[in-house]
Amino acid sequence: MLIGILSEKGDERRVALLPGEVAALKKTGVEVMVEIGAGSNAFASDDEYKTAGASIDSRANIIKEAAMLLTVNILPDNDVELCREGQILCSLLNPVENALWLEKVREKGLTVLGLDLIPRTTRAQAMDVLSSMATVAGYKAVLHAASLLPRFFPMFMSAAGTIKPARVLILGAGVAGLQALAIARKLGAVVEVFDVRSAVKEEVKSLGGKFVEVEGAREDADSGGYAVEQTEDYKKKQQELIQDRAKVSDVVIATAQIPGKKAPVLLLKETVNEMKRGSVVIDLAASTGGNCELTKNGETLIHNGVTVVGNSQYPCEMPVDASKMFGNNILNLLKIMTDKEGNIILNMEDEIINGTTAVHSKEYVSCRVKQLLNIK
Ligand code: NAI
Repeated sequence: MLIGILSEKGDERRVALLPGEVAALKKTGVEVMVEIGAGSNAFASDDEYKTAGASIDSRANIIKEAAMLLTVNILPDNDVELCREGQILCSLLNPVENALWLEKVREKGLTVLGLDLIPRTTRAQAMDVLSSMATVAGYKAVLHAASLLPRFFPMFMSAAGTIKPARVLILGAGVAGLQALAIARKLGAVVEVFDVRSAVKEEVKSLGGKFVEVEGAREDADSGGYAVEQTEDYKKKQQELIQDRAKVSDVVIATAQIPGKKAPVLLLKETVNEMKRGSVVIDLAASTGGNCELTKNGETLIHNGVTVVGNSQYPCEMPVDASKMFGNNILNLLKIMTDKEGNIILNMEDEIINGTTAVHSKEYVSCRVKQLLNIK
């Protein structure tokens, strides 16, 4: 089987597979073609891909020849036009945002594997691209906040007096939030963490954070471990508590998301008005509307002396390790869908393959996609 790796468009600097992962893939009997310059933004040269056993070719030739096309983001429309029935596209999907694109490729008879659809189960952990990218985002968010903050993160006791440690408030203790907590603690900050899922309380504590809790959160055992929308009464209590904690914080890292829905607004403009001048808000939920009322996706603004960064693209800013993690996750996924000769076998009885396949043979497959797009 022939897998093609294409370059990305726009500001994206990651590549789906780096040369190291190409070499590992070749060992499974799969042939790999890489578009000229595909790895250049992630500092991987064509020569390194060649040494890893890939052939280098033009985009058009790869689209024509490969059985599966691997990209970080969905294939642009003009490339989809060149694809043929039965070809497999594998990338992050964002099914809600890209619903029209998905419908078009379904009609064309392409198969789409959405890496963001991989079930959040123990067996699928090694393939979990969302966790990998959230790890990068949580790490980078703290470093960015530390570089913008006009203060130290750690406590300092020096001849020039004692400097108090920075106070960090993290909204949302998913993968990104827990990573942000670990890094902020390593830098010496005092960290408070807030989440609607009480299950994360012990994890927060074990990483050295203080869990800030509002009683009465709605939790749904059928939501696959994800957060669900909260009642108005809960939201009011939550906002009061967040306002209270944000006022004394130097940094707020906002990561709270509800899959397929707009991100919950947790940090109101009036709360930012009360924050200390010089404080920093990093909003990782910017692309789904943001957790801060003032967030503008892809922009940094200063409101009343508080810097508000709307950035959901931190993984693009660390393309080497982000691509390495991305590629390793893909390799682990491919392992369960290839036979000994390196042919792709899409066994829809397998819950990971079924859950990850958005469309196949002109049908919607993944229950999650059907649920998110309201397809009966
Ligand atoms: P996410 O990116 O969907 O959301 C981030 C965090 O925001 C979550 O912890 C969520 O509870 C929280 N949140 C949502 N609404 C909120 C609100 N109104 N106020 C405060 N916090 C709010 O989360 P992520 O990182 O994708 O993880 C989601 C779930 O998947 C978690 O239960 C996690 O443990 C689980 N998971 C399982 C994996 C596996 O077994 N393969 C791998 C990674 C995550």
